[in-house]
Amino acid sequence: MTHKPVQGFSKLSKEQKIDIIVNEYLSGNQEFTNILKQYWNEDESLQKLHDEFSENTVSNFYMPYGIAPNFLIDGKLMALPMAVEESSVVAAASKAAKFWLERGGFRTEILGTTKLGHTHFIFHTCAAKLSDFFHRNLKQKLFEATDPITANMRRRGGGILDIELIDKTTELADYYQLKVSFDTKDSMGANFINTCLERIGSTLEVEIQASEEFSDEEKQSLQVVMNILSNLTPQCLVRAEVSCKIEELKDDSGMPPEVFAEKFGQAVAIAEAEPYRAATHNKGIMNGVDAVVIATGNDFRATEACVHAYASLGGRYSSLSHCTAEGGIFRFWLDLPVAVGVVGGLTGLHPLVKFSLELLGRPSAPELMSILAASGLAQNFAAVRSLVTTGIQKGHMKMHMMNILNQHGANAGEKEAVLKLFQDKTASHHEVIAALESLRGNS
Ligand code: MEV
Repeated sequence: MTHKPVQGFSKLSKEQKIDIIVNEYLSGNQEFTNILKQYWNEDESLQKLHDEFSENTVSNFYMPYGIAPNFLIDGKLMALPMAVEESSVVAAASKAAKFWLERGGFRTEILGTTKLGHTHFIFHTCAAKLSDFFHRNLKQKLFEATDPITANMRRRGGGILDIELIDKTTELADYYQLKVSFDTKDSMGANFINTCLERIGSTLEVEIQASEEFSDEEKQSLQVVMNILSNLTPQCLVRAEVSCKIEELKDDSGMPPEVFAEKFGQAVAIAEAEPYRAATHNKGIMNGVDAVVIATGNDFRATEACVHAYASLGGRYSSLSHCTAEGGIFRFWLDLPVAVGVVGGLTGLHPLVKFSLELLGRPSAPELMSILAASGLAQNFAAVRSLVTTGIQKGHMKMHMMNILNQHGANAGEKEAVLKLFQDKTASHHEVIAALESLRGNS
């Protein structure tokens, strides 16, 4: 079926938008209108707040918001807010947190908080002459030009840390960068960084055009292509670690601790060596990281982009976490590059984000980095532990079973009966439905 293009959609009211979409794409079926309206909030001011977070909003999309308690992070006991739709993530985080609570908890270390951005430009000139001009003249001018923008941030102890000229001409003809490093304190700082970079880009243009050191031909070749922050922030890095005596690695799987430590270490070594496994291993880490990133109003696309680029920096995509079992000690740690904020953005606007930050004791941005790393490490520990002991399907299917039962309208009695039936075995989707049907007397 072909559809007509919609004109002026953004200018229509919410009701009009829904009418157009339902009529054009959903055969005018009012059931779909009702689905969208079912999620409108009765509190009009709360609804307006949500509508205005984005554009062309017609409804709200709920995510489950759960709490993983018992996280001991740097000696502080915390309950982590997790917004995630995947069943078993919050349960796994809670189980791992409890396990490590009894073994000293998570220790973290901030290895850096530097964020980066670039002015990317093309300039057909002599690299040595440009470098000389940059150091003698331009760098100072760039700092001065951004002074009014950075004044507030400097008062808070942040600002531009450095501006470097990078010669990239071996990778792309005539390509240079101004690589700018920032400390944005408690804000994620995307707007601040991009505003500074745009000023830096325009100042570069002005200064080169005004300089007598470059010929007209060189000046004509100058093209500031773009000014933009980088989501790869390898120096905005936190390490989270857990450790205990190998003999303390007993859990309900019944696997002897030495066997567990060895198998766990091998699983991590495989993720270090094999990109296909590393992708899934790191996805498990991000189950824990993203859930807290979302609950605290941060940008999970940015955190995803960052970790996966970082995981490839060695030339081959690899594990973000590492493990040793030496001298009777099991040590498991994660280096997480992550740029987040606790002020600005959604943090002061979204009521649940405010709740999350209160629940976490109003952390600073570096403290939030530590919490995210602990959450990622807990999730990774839980996943790898399941993989090397019982397999993940046992735990997953238990949670998934509830989704299947809900999907098929099971009542409380039916749920209890089916859960009991499969309490000691892994059931497939098909087997759960068959059991429900048989309870209902259908073949
Ligand atoms: C599922 O969301 C995540 C896992 O696949 C992670 C892993 O394999 O380590 C369980």
